[in-house]
Amino acid sequence: MSVYVSNVIPSLIRLEAITREVHWNVRGPGFISIHRYLDEVYASAEAYIDEIAEHVVAFYGMSPTWSVEKPFQHFRAGVISDGIERVVTEIDSLLEIVDSLDDVSRETEDILVRLSQDFHKHRWFLVNEISE
Ligand SMILES: [Fe+2]
Repeated sequence: MSVYVSNVIPSLIRLEAITREVHWNVRGPGFISIHRYLDEVYASAEAYIDEIAEHVVAFYGMSPTWSVEKPFQHFRAGVISDGIERVVTEIDSLLEIVDSLDDVSRETEDILVRLSQDFHKHRWFLVNEISE
């Protein structure tokens, strides 16, 4: 059932939270660029939360629901590389969930394909920021 696309929402909410914490609490050389770039990652996650929730209502006629997210390890302070690794871990987790969804309608698949493309790009940008 394609309606399980709403299971992506808690992963996006978690990614939002981690992205914000890294945005605020990271430190060191490169801070300004990573601080600003994480706003884009956050905005992207926020937009997909709304798009998926509205898709579930409009397309399936159901209220979007998802299981309660397990607690996560907060990012209170750290250097750029630690912060980026934390965000990339969450992106990987999100992409894994997206990959696990099959038997979806083409309308749902369209959203998931765009989401996957966008977050693969975010992942590429972030990983390259700390690559030698
Ligand atoms: Fe900010």
